[in-house]
Amino acid sequence: MAEPTRETTAVRAALSVIADVDPVIADAIAGELGNQRRQLKLIASENYASPATLLAMGNWLSDKYAEGTVGHRFYAGCEFVDVVEARAAELARQLFDVPHAYVQPHSGIDANLVAFWAVLAQRVELPGLERLGAKHVNDLSPADWEKLRLELGGQRMLGMSLDAGGHLTHGFRPNISGKLFDQRSYGTDPETELLDYAEVRRLAVEFRPLVIVAGYSAYPRRLDFAAMREIADEVGATLMVDMAHFAGLVAGKVFTGDFDPVRHAQIVTTTTHKSLRGPRGGLVLCQPELAEFVDKGCPMVLGGPLPHVMAAKAVALAEATQPSFADYAQRIVANAAALAEGLMRRGARLVTSGTENHLVLLDVATSYGVTGRQAESALLDGGIVTNRNAIPRDANGAWYTSGVRLGTPALTTLGLGTAEMDEVADLIHGVLSATTPAAAAAGPSKAKYAVAGGAADASRSRAAELLARFPLYPQIEL
Ligand SMILES: Cc1ncc(COP(=O)(O)O)c(C=O)c1O
Repeated sequence: MAEPTRETTAVRAALSVIADVDPVIADAIAGELGNQRRQLKLIASENYASPATLLAMGNWLSDKYAEGTVGHRFYAGCEFVDVVEARAAELARQLFDVPHAYVQPHSGIDANLVAFWAVLAQRVELPGLERLGAKHVNDLSPADWEKLRLELGGQRMLGMSLDAGGHLTHGFRPNISGKLFDQRSYGTDPETELLDYAEVRRLAVEFRPLVIVAGYSAYPRRLDFAAMREIADEVGATLMVDMAHFAGLVAGKVFTGDFDPVRHAQIVTTTTHKSLRGPRGGLVLCQPELAEFVDKGCPMVLGGPLPHVMAAKAVALAEATQPSFADYAQRIVANAAALAEGLMRRGARLVTSGTENHLVLLDVATSYGVTGRQAESALLDGGIVTNRNAIPRDANGAWYTSGVRLGTPALTTLGLGTAEMDEVADLIHGVLSATTPAAAAAGPSKAKYAVAGGAADASRSRAAELLARFPLYPQIEL
């Protein structure tokens, strides 16, 4: 019998140590791998981190408190956390060619909060303190503090509308960002479904925001960040880009020139676990004028840093500096284009009629007469895991939706190429063509559905064949 690989040995040993304390958890960890191995993952915001990245998280770095930043901690004994954080920041600066990187945010939402706080601190709090002749907020009288607080809370933000693909944290009322800022949204052109830069400019000139946010969760096109910066400069706004979804395409030099956010925005946030293929977490990248405020993220905005996750970020960032990552990023986009082409050739309608990035937004209401919720469930029956997503001006609302978002980062990690993407398009089309809304008392259901003629079973067995050819974590055998 062949010797187990190092990864197999490491994972088996870890699970056995965990099982001694709580077998339920050990079983759930193993069960999750089984699940992920059985499904074609097309969730645009997910990926498969490398074993090295995953293993970097399972250790005693987790035990250390390290509020503050490298060399300026509120706790003693941080010398190795300093090594980890400095290395992760150095790799992030190198990878994205940016003057400053902050690697502590626990997630993308946290990174956005740090960015909002940093812009408010630089653009409102600091000049306010100077005007009032104080160095610190604690030096202000209650009346002056009240004035400054109202000024901080009275700022404006312009961001992409939710139904055009923006994110809840870009100033929407239910989110804390919508309580911090008075927000207006820019959307997409009703005909082309593309971002209308002239309309963004018109809104910016009229609304005069402090911050313009660019970035999306569900827009299948690249953005012209040079144009967005020109608009921001014209109205005196700070340009913030949330590249949570497409950071891997920036790192892999698919998005360059006008389309590289780091070249054009004063501040950029991202997650590390989507197309960047790292651990769950976030980063903030910025120009020097914002660095001192960004570095105060913990403890002003964030809880204590997660040193084990910063270690894993460093490992993933080191992987992303390799030439093979640039090749990976190119393949993500080629695969998305092939998936889009395969779906359209079979008669499906895609929002914007195509893609220039890692995702495709399939209009399942127009194409197949079902809601996003029905399509998502039917596809899962067919061995394909996706998520439903609103499309612009969605008649089914944000819960049932009319769309399904499909992304290629995860399947590209497994090694699937453009030929396999055509097969995936065939599976999706096969399942959805056979799916119909179930009848309910008040008309067709928006949730219940039926898949005719064994289409889901057929898709599941073809998905299993594909996954057998492109296995997940082939070096790990449990
Ligand atoms: C554009 C964008 N920003 C931020 C986030 C939030 O990231 P996290 O879930 O890591 O907080 C997401 C997640 O889906 C996103 O799409």
